[in-house]
Amino acid sequence: MAPTLYVKYGSRLTSGMAECFYDRVLADPDLAPFFEGVDVERLREHLADFLTVLTGGPDLYKGRDLLEAHRGLKISEADFDRLMVHVAAAAEELEIEPEDIATIAGAIIGLKDQVITA
Ligand code: HEM
Repeated sequence: MAPTLYVKYGSRLTSGMAECFYDRVLADPDLAPFFEGVDVERLREHLADFLTVLTGGPDLYKGRDLLEAHRGLKISEADFDRLMVHVAAAAEELEIEPEDIATIAGAIIGLKDQVITA
């Protein structure tokens, strides 16, 4: 059986992505305003833990469920699509293999209904 992506990439896929991905999002003038006043360091930890679970690692996520975390933020489909560009770019920068990027992107796209709130 193939190892989980969590085992294959380790912290590159969890804390690495959380670093690289939020740096890109915060540098994007279309997305940065969503994060004004938000404790991004805490968010990085939560995202790293969330990605651990999403990629087959231990169930250590202690954040809110995604629907609750994004409720009221008025995130549109266009915002979500833009975010996905950063997911792919961050994963490429971390040298995650293209077919694994596709798998991770697919898993995140599956969460769309919990994140789009506009
Ligand atoms: C355009 C799309 C998105 C925007 C603008 C966005 C924005 C935000 C913001 C502002 C918060 C902090 C909310 C708060 O502390 O009150 C947050 C939390 C969070 N987001 Fe997103 N998000 C987006 C998509 C996603 C996606 C696709 C995922 C899944 C991989 C995700 C995972 C998380 C996690 C794990 C938290 C932490 C929840 C917690 O701390 O309890 N977000 N997001």
